[in-house]
Amino acid sequence: MEIKNIVIIGAGAMGLGIAQVSAVAGYDVVLNDIAEAPLERAIAAIKKSLGKMVSKGKMAEADLDAAMAKIKTTTNLEEACKDADLLVECVFENLELKKDMFKKFEQYCKPETILGTNTSAIPVTEIASATNRGDKVIGIHFMNPVPLMKGVEIIRGQLTSDETMELTLGYIEKIGKDAAIAVDFAGFIVSRLLDVLMNEAVKLVQEGNSPEDIDKAMQLCAGHPMGPCKLLDLVGAEIAMHGMETMERDFGDEYKPHPLLKKRVLAGLLGMKTGKGFYEYK
Ligand SMILES: NC(=O)c1ccc[n+]([C@@H]2O[C@H](COP(=O)([O-])OP(=O)(O)OC[C@H]3O[C@@H](n4cnc5c(N)ncnc54)[C@H](O)[C@@H]3O)[C@@H](O)[C@H]2O)c1
Repeated sequence: MEIKNIVIIGAGAMGLGIAQVSAVAGYDVVLNDIAEAPLERAIAAIKKSLGKMVSKGKMAEADLDAAMAKIKTTTNLEEACKDADLLVECVFENLELKKDMFKKFEQYCKPETILGTNTSAIPVTEIASATNRGDKVIGIHFMNPVPLMKGVEIIRGQLTSDETMELTLGYIEKIGKDAAIAVDFAGFIVSRLLDVLMNEAVKLVQEGNSPEDIDKAMQLCAGHPMGPCKLLDLVGAEIAMHGMETMERDFGDEYKPHPLLKKRVLAGLLGMKTGKGFYEYK
């Protein structure tokens, strides 16, 4: 089987980035969301991101046009799924929603479609259990922002087949990324370590430290490229909180999201996506 058509479900921060890198690599891309507005925002964001590459001389104008022409959008899930060779699910970090979506993918996609999930923390086998196609289900955990981050975490579920692994790794290579393989337990490798760091940063804020000083300390004293408060703003506070809740469920209290984090999520202080987190964004 050759992968030609990439279908991305959910056109938020991650979905649009995956659409961009897939189209630039020459794949035909279908981007699906529940409404036109997120799809329009996604197309505008992709165009802007590629436009920056053109203005920096990293991409020709003609290649921007070619990549944009590769991306189709639709709010019709059945229509989106029908020709998918590889589907990447990027909807909200909610187990019931993801399971419900995977039931629909099984119904709408051809039998050979690879069903990828971009979940940050939910075990892939748990999502796959909603289908009778565990061999086709795989975790493809992209990092944010997708066009800039070289690494992708690949998670092999209990039933994921060798063929699904091989085809997925081929796709990862073609889009210019490098895969780290993680074992399928809540949080995998990246969220397991980073969510704890971000939760501790929230505790430090609660204790009276400023986000600026926490970030400065970790950048200048620990050599991190970005401080944990800024990282939480980039990831989205609700994404990190849901990741921690999944890990708390499976591993216990040490992963419990701090009450201040929950309060900030309830207040809509999600970070870049809402314009305000620990910092403000235009
Ligand atoms: N934000 C990050 O840094 C990051 C990094 C890695 C993985 N992830 C994971 O990627 C997934 C998406 O995260 P995000 O930050 O892009 O979220 P987001 O909130 O920016 O986007 C989610 C999108 O899914 C759409 N959606 C919801 N229900 C849908 C449905 N039934 N059908 C189609 N579209 C639907 C929403 O309208 C929205 O546009 C989550 O599972 C998250 O944990 C996020």
